[in-house]
Amino acid sequence: MATVLLCDDELMNRKVASKILEKEGFSVIEAQNGKEALEVLKSTKIDLILMDLMMPIMDGYEATKIIKEDDEFSTIPLIIISALSDKEAITKGLELGADEYLTKPFDIVEFRLRIKNAIKIGIYQNMLKEHKSLLEIQVQEKTKELQNALTEVQKSEKDIISILSKTAEYRDNETSAHTVRVGEMAGLIAQKLGWSEEDIELIRLAAPMHDIGKIGIEDGVLLKPGKLDDDEFTIMKTHAAIGHSILSQKETPLLKLAAEIAHSHHEKYNGQGYPRGLREDEIPISGAIVAVVDVFDALLSERPYKKAFSLEKAIEIIKNDSGTHFHPMVVDLFLESLDDILEIRRSLNDV
Ligand code: C2E
Ligand code: SIN
Ligand code: SIN
Ligand code: FE
Ligand code: FE
Repeated sequence: MATVLLCDDELMNRKVASKILEKEGFSVIEAQNGKEALEVLKSTKIDLILMDLMMPIMDGYEATKIIKEDDEFSTIPLIIISALSDKEAITKGLELGADEYLTKPFDIVEFRLRIKNAIKIGIYQNMLKEHKSLLEIQVQEKTKELQNALTEVQKSEKDIISILSKTAEYRDNETSAHTVRVGEMAGLIAQKLGWSEEDIELIRLAAPMHDIGKIGIEDGVLLKPGKLDDDEFTIMKTHAAIGHSILSQKETPLLKLAAEIAHSHHEKYNGQGYPRGLREDEIPISGAIVAVVDVFDALLSERPYKKAFSLEKAIEIIKNDSGTHFHPMVVDLFLESLDDILEIRRSLNDV
C-alpha cells in the first residue's frame, strides 16, 4: 500500500483529503507544516507528498525546495495543493521542483487522477534512480578491474603491444604470424632507409598493430568467405580509422607510431586509398612502408576470401603498383631487400 504524506496546517483540509485518499486505498500520514513533514520523511518511507503552501513555522515553498534538493527524497513525487492560484505562485512551486500543482478547492475526480499519475511517476523515477546507481557501481567495478589490469601490464608496454597485435589477427586468421612478419619486414625497410636503431625497433613493434581496427568489424564482413560487396567493403574500410582511434587513446612514441600506421596503411600513392585519400608525401612514410609489406604478405597468404598467390605473382603485383598504390622508393628498397624479406617469411611461418 502506498503511503501519502499530507502536509497542511488546516485540520479541515486534512480531513477532507485524508478521506478521499483512504478511500482510494492509501495510507495517510499528516503533518501541520513543512518542518513536521521533513521529520516524517526522515523516519517513514513515503510514496507521495501533498504540500500546502501557506503554513506557519516552515511554509510549503521552503519544504519543497529542501525535499527536491535532497538526494534521497527528490524522487518522491510532490504535489502542491494551495489556495494560491496566481501564475506567480504556481510557477514558483514548479520551479522549486514540485511535480504537480493543484488549486484549492480541488475537483475530486481530478484530484484522484493526478495522485495516481504522480504515484506512477514516482515508481518510474525510483526505478531509474536504482538503475542509475547500479550502473554507476558497475562502471566503478569495471574501471577498477581495468586499472588493475593496466598496472599489471604497464610493467611492460611491449607485452601489451604484442597482445594487442595478436588480438585482431586472432579473429580472422587464427595465427598471428602475419602481423609479426609485417613488423619484421617493416623494420627491414626502415633499416634500409637509414633509421636509427631505436626507430627501427619502434616500427617493428608498431607495424603489427596495423589491422587492430578489424576487431571493430562484424564477423559477417570480416569472415565472409567470398568477395565483399560495396557496402561490406565500406564497412571493412573503417578498420583504419577504428585502429587509429583505439591506438590514439594514450600517447607514447610507440602507440603514436602505431596509430599513424593503422590510420595510413591503406592510403595509396596516387591518392586513391582510404580513409583520407592522402597522396604521395602526405602519407606518413611509416604507413607507406607497411602498405607494401602488408599487401605482399597478404598476397602470399591464404585468406577466407582468397587463395595464396605465387611468389612470382605477388612480386609482379608490387612492382606493377609502384607509383600508383605504393611509394616507388619503398618498392625499390623492398625489392633490394627481397632475400631478407623472404627469409622472414621462411622463419615466421603460419602455424
Ligand atoms: P588483408 O587480407 O590483410 O589484405 C590487406 C591488403 O592486401 C588489401 O587491402 C589489398 O590491398 C591486398 N590484397 C589482399 N588480397 C588481395 C588480392 O587477392 N589481390 C590484390 N590485388 N590485393 C590483395 P584492402 O583491399 O583494402 O583490404 C583490406 C582488408 O579487407 C583485407 O585485409 C581483408 O581483411 C578485407 N577484404 C578485402 N577484400 C575482401 C574480400 O573480398 N572478402 C573478404 N572477406 N575480405 C576482404
Ligand atoms: C596520430 O594520430 O598519432 C598519427 C596521425 C595519423 O593518424 O596519421
Ligand atoms: C599523418 O600522420 O597521417 C600525416 C599528417 C596527418 O595526420 O594528416
Ligand atoms: Fe588493413
Ligand atoms: Fe594486414
